[in-house]
Amino acid sequence: MSHQEHGTVVVGADGKKHLQVLQNLDSATVRQLHREYMMPSTFHYYPESLVLQRGDGMFLFDAEGQKYLDFFGGILTVSLGHCHPEVIGAVREQLGTLGHTSTLYQNEWIVRLAQKMAEITPGNMQQSFFSNSGSEADEMAVLLAKLHTGRQEIVALRHSYSGRGMYAISAMGHASWRPIAPVMPGISLMPAPYCYRCPFGQTYPSCDIRCADDVKEVLATTTTGQPAAFIAEPILGVGGFITPPKEYFQKVLEPIRKAGALFICDEVQTGFGRTGTYWNGIEHFGVQPDIMTFAKGIASGMPMAATITSKEIAASFKGLTISTYGGNPISSVAALATIHVMQREDIPQRAARLGNRLRQGLLALQEKFPIIGDVRGMGLMQGIELVEDRKTKEPSAKRANQMIEVLRRRHFLIGKGGLYGNTLRIAPPMLVTESQIDEALAHLDAGLSEVSV
Ligand SMILES: Cc1ncc(COP(=O)(O)O)c(C=O)c1O
Repeated sequence: MSHQEHGTVVVGADGKKHLQVLQNLDSATVRQLHREYMMPSTFHYYPESLVLQRGDGMFLFDAEGQKYLDFFGGILTVSLGHCHPEVIGAVREQLGTLGHTSTLYQNEWIVRLAQKMAEITPGNMQQSFFSNSGSEADEMAVLLAKLHTGRQEIVALRHSYSGRGMYAISAMGHASWRPIAPVMPGISLMPAPYCYRCPFGQTYPSCDIRCADDVKEVLATTTTGQPAAFIAEPILGVGGFITPPKEYFQKVLEPIRKAGALFICDEVQTGFGRTGTYWNGIEHFGVQPDIMTFAKGIASGMPMAATITSKEIAASFKGLTISTYGGNPISSVAALATIHVMQREDIPQRAARLGNRLRQGLLALQEKFPIIGDVRGMGLMQGIELVEDRKTKEPSAKRANQMIEVLRRRHFLIGKGGLYGNTLRIAPPMLVTESQIDEALAHLDAGLSEVSV
């Protein structure tokens, strides 16, 4: 073994020098290299960031070998847990067969995945375009809607998040994630279905879903009346798991359809069984999207995203398009293996059952701790919003920050989010067990006791 300036190389059985992929750098060294060579805008949890080195199912291990129970799954991405053997097996085999083609050539894995996507999405969703991230999937959806309708305007929701492209930044529903003023004109941000902090000061159900009704006002006052599309997440993920009332989408889509606009459903967080019972979050709301986008959970952690629509809408894209890495064979087989395991394990039902156990536990914690203002979500996508005072609902980002720090010390990882940074996001890999849900609730109980004082 020899040490070089840029890493360690090992001499293999073939007598050649090979790069040693894992060099077991300690956390302090990684943090120091990060400070030196990574752009400082990259956001991390925890004042002293967590340096991860290995994953196994529900667990992560840091550079010092400490083990953590993971209830955030790399932002709802590692659907089946870390390094799932069947996903790794498929990826390994594919790596040794054919790793890259670009979309200039066809291959069997991408079409088999497209066929699966048509099977697990509702209605007439049939033709897919694959890319590498949720940002790209949403960008493609917006482009398709504009091409199909011949219109330009988009209606999106406040508190929504579409990623980091110029469309996404322009449609961003959070000032903190928008580093520059919107650069794409023609985007209207309408009030979100945020019942706990109703933008109209009303209460569900007596509100009669006033926030959905507001779309008429938005169309009449901020658009030409002829937008290309309305885009929404079934549950607003980065927004802090804001969960619309069950009648919301039917009501909001009526004026949208009347105006001749399409509905783009962003399932980047809510897709692939996450919300329980159904494969897609939107199926809880009894409406049919025109275009759907997926990423995160689709391939259990491999970079992969999909935009799916009807044959008719897909045919409106007359120009040329490619994606160099989109739908590459390695990510495609990771997605195929993920869907195969999900179907075998009936993940949507499993997420409903375990999500219900988690939800009941969180509601019990809300009884016990006045700092929990709201519990919301569906399936294995549950959030709790922390407040200083339940009556004033003053958001408590301070307690949310303390909480994830305390939980880290207990070797338990969750996410946080929301406009005020005060919502804890709990979304474990979906092969989580009953006893791990109970363990998670015990950690949350202990953490809430500590930060309530
Ligand atoms: C709902 C939603 N859409 C789009 C994106 C963008 O995905 P990506 O980070 O893969 O570009 C995200 C990312 O968090 C998301 O939550």
